Amino acid sequence: MRVLVLGASGATGSLVVRQLIRREIQTRILIRKSAVLPEEVLESPLVETVKGSINDLGQSEMDKLLENCDAVISCLGHNISLKGMFGKPRYLVRDAMRSVCETAERSAGKNVKIVLMSTTAYTNTSSKEKNSLGERIIFSLLTLLLPPHRDNVRAADFLIRDIGRSNKRIEWVAVRPDTLTHSDVESSYEVFEYRVRSPIFNAGKTSRINVSHFMAELVTDDRLWNKWLFKTPTVYDK
Ligand SMILES: NC(=O)c1ccc[n+]([C@@H]2O[C@H](COP(=O)([O-])OP(=O)(O)OC[C@H]3O[C@@H](n4cnc5c(N)ncnc54)[C@H](OP(=O)(O)O)[C@@H]3O)[C@@H](O)[C@H]2O)c1
Repeated sequence: MRVLVLGASGATGSLVVRQLIRREIQTRILIRKSAVLPEEVLESPLVETVKGSINDLGQSEMDKLLENCDAVISCLGHNISLKGMFGKPRYLVRDAMRSVCETAERSAGKNVKIVLMSTTAYTNTSSKEKNSLGERIIFSLLTLLLPPHRDNVRAADFLIRDIGRSNKRIEWVAVRPDTLTHSDVESSYEVFEYRVRSPIFNAGKTSRINVSHFMAELVTDDRLWNKWLFKTPTVYDK
């Protein structure tokens, strides 16, 4: 199989690439020209590097990017800087999802699995997930004032509402880690269908290495994929 990783130069994306290499999966990465990745990743015979920015690619470049890919894992996120958070592209993640889905829909061939790295700050209202009054107020303010949060919400909404469950070509899972932390080693983690803690008032932790492990397992283990298909699993370190 071949997996395309978007945001492969990011803190979680680079770990996903390592997880895929460890499983001997052919991996295509799209990174910006300025992106930095360790030599061991760039020089791996399993890794094919394409340079560019997802939202600047034309239709034929997108076709080529997705060619022969069975799965796409998006770990895109806005850089934590004024430009990254408040500048363009405002809808980096949502537009990337849209572009990937449009490309998958017009290409001939097998279904494409899409894994979106989302967040527990996304409320899956179509699965009847609810927020308390306090959470509703804070999420409304975040959506209004914090463009990256708005983008994350729209990206997950796009998969749930626009793509839905009956698209002939696209299968998806939106993975929701809680507060991301750094760790060099994997540890036990738990995956739930719904949030089990308040992301605002009682946030848990999810190490990036654990969420990268879960996303790599998802695309390589059919049983796990079918378990979480069209769902928005939350991931917490134990
Ligand atoms: N912080 C948290 O606690 C938390 C919790 C749950 C979920 N999340 C979400 O998880 C996702 C990944 O988080 P992370 O910390 O691993 O992200 P990260 O390290 O900031 O990586 C973001 C990736 O997106 C790429 N990117 C940023 N702006 C871009 C642009 N304009 N065009 C093309 N690529 C662009 C970056 O490329 P460059 O290397 O070239 O900049 C990088 O590869 C984010 O969406 C975040 O919101 C965060």
